[in-house]
Parts: sequence; C-alpha cells; structure tokens
Amino acid sequence: MTKTVYIKTVGCQMNVLDSEMVIADLKRHGYQVVDTPREADLLLYNTCSIREQAEEKTYSALGKLRDTKANNPDKKIGVLGCMAQKDQEVIFRRAPFVDMIVGPGQLHSLPEMISKVDAGEGRQMAVSMGRKDGKQSLVARSHETFDPLRDPAMRPTPFQAYLRIQIGCDKFCTYCVVPNTRGPEQGRAPSEIISEARILAEQGCLEITLLGQTVNSYRHRSDEGETDLAALLEQLHEIDGIRRLKFVTSYPKDMSRRLLETVRDLPKCSPYLHVPAQSGSDEVLKRMKRGYTVAEYMEMFERIEDVIPNAAVSSDFIVGFCGETDEDFQKSVALVERCRFKNSFIFQYSVRGGTKAAERLEDDVPREVKAARNHELLEVQNRVSKEHHLKMIGSTVEVLVEGPSKKSKNADPDAPAVQMTGRTHCDRIVVFDGNRRQAGQVLDVHIDEVTSNTLIGRVRQVEVVSIGL
Ligand code: 5AD
Ligand code: SF4
Repeated sequence: MTKTVYIKTVGCQMNVLDSEMVIADLKRHGYQVVDTPREADLLLYNTCSIREQAEEKTYSALGKLRDTKANNPDKKIGVLGCMAQKDQEVIFRRAPFVDMIVGPGQLHSLPEMISKVDAGEGRQMAVSMGRKDGKQSLVARSHETFDPLRDPAMRPTPFQAYLRIQIGCDKFCTYCVVPNTRGPEQGRAPSEIISEARILAEQGCLEITLLGQTVNSYRHRSDEGETDLAALLEQLHEIDGIRRLKFVTSYPKDMSRRLLETVRDLPKCSPYLHVPAQSGSDEVLKRMKRGYTVAEYMEMFERIEDVIPNAAVSSDFIVGFCGETDEDFQKSVALVERCRFKNSFIFQYSVRGGTKAAERLEDDVPREVKAARNHELLEVQNRVSKEHHLKMIGSTVEVLVEGPSKKSKNADPDAPAVQMTGRTHCDRIVVFDGNRRQAGQVLDVHIDEVTSNTLIGRVRQVEVVSIGL
C-alpha cells in the first residue's frame, strides 16, 4: 500500500533543497506527497535554528501534534534539519511523541529510521558529530550530503533549481549557529556538480542557483589541482540548455577580482551578488568576528562596481547585536545609503546557544530598540530600492517567467489573463498580465510601474534589445 508523506520546510534555500532530496528518496521508497498533515502517514518538519523565532514556531507546530498523535498512534513524526542537529534529545523532551530526529548531515538515513520505528524499535535519532567531538576529518565525514537525488516535482518551478556546491561553514561569526549545525566547510567535487547540472538541464531547468554558506570561498582540491568558483562557473557555462547561473551567499572577504571578471565575461552568469555586510560599524563587525572592516567591505563593493558596473548587490544586516549603540546603528543606515543595495534582509539579533556571542557577550539591546532599528533600516532600504526602480520605468528587461503570481495562484485555471511573475537577470521581481503558458519562457517586459520590491510591466510584442538592469 502506498504511504503518504507531508513535509513542512522552513528556513533557507539549503533546507528547500534538502526537502527536495528527502522527498525524492522517500518516493523511491513508495511514498506519495500530500498537502496536509491530516492525510499523511508520515509528517516531516524540516527546521531552522538561525533565530529563536524560527525554532519557537516549529515547537509550537509540534505542540499541536500532541493530540493528533494520541488519536492516531500510527502516524510517524520526524524533525529534520538544523534544529534537530542543535537541540537533539531536547526535542524528545519537549515533544515526546516525535519518532525521529535527523540532522541535516544524516538525511540519507531517514528511510532506514522509518523502517526501525515501524518495526517497533522505538524512537530514533541520527545526528552528526559536534565540531569538538573528534578529529576534523571525522567530524566532516559525519556531515554528509546526498545531493544527486533529485525530484523535479518538489521544486517551486521546474525551470529553476538549487545546486549545492558547498556544505558547512568555517567562518564562525560569533552570532551564528551554522558552523555547528551544518559542520565544517566542504566543497563538493566539480565532477559531481557538473553531472548534476547536466541532469537538471536535461530535465528542462533554465536557471541554476549554486548554494553555499560562503559560496565564493568554494574550493575543491584533487590530484588534478584546485577548482575555485570561477573555474566551476566556466565549466557550468558550457552546459547546453542552462540560460542563467547564480550563486548565493557570498562572503565579502573572498570576493576576488577574478571571480567578478568571470561573472562579467560569462553571459549566463547573473550580474547579481548577495554579499551580506551584517553591520556598518567596525566595532560591531569586530565583535561579530566577520573578518573585515567597513573600509574593506567598501573596497570590495567598489571592486564589484568597477568590474560589473550594472551589478545588483543585496545584503543582510543584523540589528541590535550585543553592544550596538545608536551611533553604530546609524553607520548601518549610512552603509545602505552608500551602497544602495538592491535589497537587504534585516534581522533582529537573536542569541543562539553554543555560539561565541552567547557565551561571551551580553544581549544588551532591548527588544523594542531592536524592533525600531529593524523598522528604520527597512524603510531606508525600501526607499533606496524604490528610487532605483523608478529609474527603470520605460526600460525593457529580460524576464524568466516562473508562473502565476501569488495574487493569481488561485485564479480560474481557464481565465485568459492572469498576473504572472518572474525575475530579471539581476534577480528583480517582475509581474505582468499574461497567461500560464508563458511559464518557463524568457520574455522582454516593458516596465510601466514600480514598488520598492516589484517591477510591474507588460510583455513587448516586438523583439527588442534588453538592457541588463
Ligand atoms: N540573529 C539574527 N540574525 C542572524 N543571522 C544569522 N545568525 C543570526 C542571529 N543569531 C542572519 C545573518 C545571516 C542570515 C542568514 O541570518 O544576517 O546572513
Ligand atoms: Fe554563519 Fe558567518 Fe558562516 Fe554565514 S559566514 S553561515 S553568518 S558563520
């Protein structure tokens, strides 16, 4: 009999990709995906630990399953991902009805764990070694990816895919759990990456986004020598069918001129870079142990402007980090004004157990101050984004159409016109009135109106030369 699985994914692109892999694996084991926990024999929660709020949401979702499990003891519940690795048995204590806890480096063991639970062997846990639990090579080996398994049906659109090129992180920014939950930085072998990209292209994928926590630090050494991200992009660029290549997230210190020149010279590479600054204050950056000063970030930023003048750069900021004064915060505001980022993801600092900041620094910025700074920085960023977008009115951009926009997801499937959404080569969101058949096409769209995060336009009927804004 076919079994059914429901999966809820929160967090970053890595988790989205992990869920895709898990589902591909489970389908091979006879599972079918359903949309609600009610219909499912197996309920999976792929979790995130980056901020407390993400964890609390998961614990509250789990709490709601207490009665479900009591009434349906045969339903199996699994907690996957970063929170599984970070909290381990704590999850069994807080939610004793959970059957399986699986860290992000152990996802390949899920089918076997399900069999054990089914066989009455009791609840199961598979997590990777902690950073200090043994020799670096052993710890690294305990964080495995199982990337070659793909299920195109689980992707948000069939034309776009994530491809992991690196796992883990060795930067140890003082606020961040990732080096603990995802383990040591490891670059995947180029041959594996290329063959996976070829399969994606054969499946009709037009855009590949390479994933890594510090993706531009990617390195793989073998007997034939060393491959870096620039060399990898050159090889991926050769694959027929792929139209766009992106990579996220970049680490400011590793943004070499050679990489930027490669992005400039390879037409499939999107002129879009996500390079989080995190703060505009040297004192805060030092406490975060980011490894650069504001002047060094600016040097890197000017290098981007110099090599790829039309590049769109986005950033992340943490507001209210330990000891952040109003003056420090105003320096983050100034950095947004100066760099005029395409967009910024802004987060309020959240203490994470096991990090250096949690051990050594005081979380001394009051909650209301964090919220107010978040609001202020977002307003400045939105103004900057809108000012740039206003300049794009009247221009024509090349859009990879993803599908109906959120607004029209539930529109009548036979309606002649629906609002469609897609992205420019620079990762700007575009909506226009069109039809569902346009999904997966690359179209020239004339921009008529804008908001701070969206360009609104109409499809050009005639071929025009697009500009890569
Ligand atoms: N609190 C708030 N934001 C955080 N981030 C990482 N750790 C924390 C934390 N403890 C943010 C950083 C990072 C993004 C993915 O999440 O800005 O770039
Ligand atoms: Fe976390 Fe810093 Fe690594 Fe990014 S570079 S994943 S913020 S430790």
